[in-house]
Amino acid sequence: MNDKLIWIKNRQFQLQGNIKQVAPLLENFTLDQVSRVERFHRTYGQFEETPLRKLDALARNVGVNQIFVKDESYRFGLNAFKVLGGVYALGQYVAKLLEKDIEELSFEELKLPEVKKQLGDLIFISTTDGNHGRGVAWAARELGFKARIYMPQGSAEERLQNIKNEGAYAEITNMNYDDTVRYTSQLAAENGWIIVQDTMWEGYEEIPLWIMQGYTTLMKEVVNQLEEAPTHVFLQAGVGSFASAMVAFLQQYYEQDITYVLVEPHAANCYYESFKKGTEQSVNVGGAMHTIMAGLACGEPSPVAWDILKTYTQVSISCEEEVAATGMRVLGNPIGSDTSIIAGESGAAPLGCFYTIMSDSEYQDLKEVLKLNTTSRVLFISTEGDTDVNNYRDIMWHGKYPTT
Ligand SMILES: Cc1ncc(COP(=O)(O)O)c(C=O)c1O
Repeated sequence: MNDKLIWIKNRQFQLQGNIKQVAPLLENFTLDQVSRVERFHRTYGQFEETPLRKLDALARNVGVNQIFVKDESYRFGLNAFKVLGGVYALGQYVAKLLEKDIEELSFEELKLPEVKKQLGDLIFISTTDGNHGRGVAWAARELGFKARIYMPQGSAEERLQNIKNEGAYAEITNMNYDDTVRYTSQLAAENGWIIVQDTMWEGYEEIPLWIMQGYTTLMKEVVNQLEEAPTHVFLQAGVGSFASAMVAFLQQYYEQDITYVLVEPHAANCYYESFKKGTEQSVNVGGAMHTIMAGLACGEPSPVAWDILKTYTQVSISCEEEVAATGMRVLGNPIGSDTSIIAGESGAAPLGCFYTIMSDSEYQDLKEVLKLNTTSRVLFISTEGDTDVNNYRDIMWHGKYPTT
């Protein structure tokens, strides 16, 4: 596929009926719910908010009013937002075993030896491209439990090592992401391990929902950091849990209309293909899914995420590898007095798409469809820093990245 961007406008699903259908899901992402999650995260001793950067020079350069980038590379010293989901899910799981409400507990209380004594050795298992598994391994270690983390074929050694450094058992399989998820769920069933996966399937809903809720702390921070509602939010999607959690909260928090744009790599564009097909059911894409955007290399939408995203997404974009690299460079080498942001491949892809739309006349029609102009306030979440330093340097210093 040679097109830098391919895109599709969601005409199919923006119907009143769908919004009603999705309403029960939204109850999990009200301000009240999101505030409870944030309260729990803030009980972690070293908790710190991540910065929201305002890129005024870039906004002037491309012709929009404001650009904001939430920099999740600062999250818990783990270089990515994902730990927010893992730590909240483990917290909820342990609280449930203790027959307590998480609202009565702090992260520090869960670490007490009495808790471990009462619950024994719990083993958490998960599949990851790197960031989610590192978060689960970190949370398990902090709470005194064990983690077993499995990665798809082609995962970076550095990401594997980062997980091992958290004391977890970790290995790279010879399967793609979605097959590795099936494999770990089988291992969990056979051994009585607890699967902590950031995607949902029938009969496995509670933990993925906690993970989605966990992510919302970052958006709760954003709405406090912003003075006005954004007009546009660009969100990257792997299985879609992250993007759908953000949308579910923002839709309820702001009264103003927001234009949501979904971004995926060509190699794993299951949302794009689902919007293109235009049926109620999402579609999957398979194969090896080679992409530098490792966090987005998932070919099967999480069903709850699809229900939310098919209702609220205006445009779904599938992008070339080069577009993510452009996003990394634009963020890393800013103009004027804008702050430099170290954004990894999956973190920078949405800004790369936006920059391409604004600067490449070939995408004038998309710019018009999205009504991106001098009144727009555009929000991005840089979901990871340089989680694979070698790849980051290859791209930034040498202009090299594997082509698909
Ligand atoms: C850095 C980064 N950004 C975005 C995502 C996408 O999240 P989701 O799979 O929930 O769509 C991931 C997933 O692992 C990720 O690691």
